[in-house]
Amino acid sequence: MQHDKIEKNIGLMGVLIFIVISFGGLAEIVPLFFIDDTTKPLKGMKPHTALALEGRDVYIREGCNNCHSQMIRPFRAETERYGHYSVAGEHVWEHPFLWGSKRTGPDLARVGGRYSDDWHRVHLLNPRDVVPESNMPAYTWLEDAVLTGDITGRKMAALRIVGVPYTDEDIANAKQAVNGKTELDAVVFYLQSLGLILKDKR
Ligand code: HEC
Repeated sequence: MQHDKIEKNIGLMGVLIFIVISFGGLAEIVPLFFIDDTTKPLKGMKPHTALALEGRDVYIREGCNNCHSQMIRPFRAETERYGHYSVAGEHVWEHPFLWGSKRTGPDLARVGGRYSDDWHRVHLLNPRDVVPESNMPAYTWLEDAVLTGDITGRKMAALRIVGVPYTDEDIANAKQAVNGKTELDAVVFYLQSLGLILKDKR
């Protein structure tokens, strides 16, 4: 009898549907606010150094994230190949996230330390020199682009506003840490820093 009323009154039905969906949403969303795993950085984690931050910006500018994900899913096939699956705490200071969704190339979430700096330099300048079948583009210009570091400190100050714990000292020293380095240096440094925090715990 009561169901009859609901089924014949679209307004009432709409309100009730809204209430049901809200409960569903709350049940999924509210717990996230209280699980530290999803909102707190991993123990011992440090924000990107000035040079790594510049490398990350080059990575974004060149669209590396269109072909490379930085998100290892918790499946055996992935963890065997790439190492420990990605956890939220590793990414709390990433603005924007570079998880990606397409893998033309391998995932890079834990590429840090997998190859030497020299390997990365050769690979970025011409991937075919080290991986003959590679279809990754060559990024020859990175070698000639010299960074000044003029705005690196300001980038760090901006990130601090959204919660990345840079100190005044980090910001003051940023220019010096970056000035004179090439974009290639910066990208390689950034790649070598990726994923180290959970590297050994397979
Ligand atoms: C068109 C797609 C594409 C783009 C864009 C691209 N890559 Fe790649 N990348 C690949 C492919 C395919 C491979 C696998 C073959 C190889 O090692 O070259 C690869 C491999 C790599 C590897 C070796 C990973 C491993 O575990 O063996 C690194 C590091 C890398 N890319 C970094 C970069 C960086 C940095 C950029 C941006 C400057 C970039 N890639 C842009 C396709 C791409």
